[in-house]
Amino acid sequence: MGDLVTMDDLTNDDIVAVLDDAERLVPVAKGEVLLPLLQGKVLANMFFENSTRTRMSFETAMKRLGGSVLNFSSIGTSVAKGETLFDTMQMIDGYADVAAIRHSRQGAAQYSADAVEIPVLNAGDGAGNHPTQTMLDLFTIRQAHGTLEGLNVVLVGDLRYGRTAHSLSHALVRFGASLTMVSPASLKMPVEIVSDLRSHGANVTETETLNDQIAEADVIYMTRIQKERFPDEEEYAKVAGIYKIEATDLVGAKKDMIVMHPLPRVDEISPSVDSTEYARYFQQAFNGVPTRMALLCKSLGVEVPKKVKK
Ligand code: NCD
Repeated sequence: MGDLVTMDDLTNDDIVAVLDDAERLVPVAKGEVLLPLLQGKVLANMFFENSTRTRMSFETAMKRLGGSVLNFSSIGTSVAKGETLFDTMQMIDGYADVAAIRHSRQGAAQYSADAVEIPVLNAGDGAGNHPTQTMLDLFTIRQAHGTLEGLNVVLVGDLRYGRTAHSLSHALVRFGASLTMVSPASLKMPVEIVSDLRSHGANVTETETLNDQIAEADVIYMTRIQKERFPDEEEYAKVAGIYKIEATDLVGAKKDMIVMHPLPRVDEISPSVDSTEYARYFQQAFNGVPTRMALLCKSLGVEVPKKVKK
C-alpha cells in the first residue's frame, strides 16, 4: 500500500485483510495485551486542521504498538512564519517513519505524499477524502452485520462537503451496498461522485427526507453539516439543524440496524438515541484504534501475527 490517500489505494482483498488484522489487534488496542510491533518507529501526526478522535486514535494506536509520535500542529510552528506545506512535509522525512496528515485543502494529502519518501496516510483533506475513517467505519459495519456485502446504507447530512461520506460511499459500493443519500438539495453528493458510483454498478437513490428511509436501513450514517467549508454564514444558517434523529424516530427500524456518526455531532443525533441498542458511534470511535494500528503496520510493512495471545 505505501501511501493511503484515497480508498483506491486499497483493493477489496487489502480492505478485508486490514479489517482482519484490526480484529486481532483489539486486545492490544484495549491495553490488555502488550505487542510492541512498532517499537523504534516514529509517527508524525501532521494536523493542519482541527481533530480530536483521528489524531488521538492515531497516537494511541502507535503507542500501544510500542512506537512513538511526533505531534505537529499548525499553531505555534513555522507555518505561522509562512513555511510552505511542501517544505514542512519534506522535513519530516528525516524525523519520522510514517506520517498522518490532515489539511483543510482538498488534494493536500496527495501533494504531501508526493513530497516525501515515507508513507503518508490521509487523515482528511478538505472536502476530499478520509480513508482511515472509512476503514474504521467498515470495521464497525462488519462487526455489527458480520459482512460488508449487500447492505442497505443510508448516508445523511452534508454529503457535499463531508469527506467521510465520500470515501465511505466509494468503498461500500465495491462491496455491493445499496446507498440512499439523504441531504438538502444544496448539500447533495457531488455529481461526479454519484456518476462514478453508478458507473461501478451502484444502486444509488437521492432524497431529501430521512424518515421514509429508516425502516429499510441496515446502517444510518449521520454526518455533521460542515460549517467550516461554507463560503458564508448565511448559507450555513439555511441548512443548520436540518436532520435530527430522536430515539422515537427509530421505532420500526430493523432490529440489527445501527446508527453511526464519525463525530463530532452537533445536533444530528439526540442524546436519547445514545442508550438505544442502535447507537454505535462511540464504539465506532474506539474502533479507530485497532483499525489505525492495522493500517500503520501495513504502511510500514510490518506483519500482524495471525494469532495474538491473550
Ligand atoms: C470527521 C472529519 O474530520 O471529517 N471527523 C472525524 O474525523 N471523526 C467528520 C466531521 O468533522 O464532521
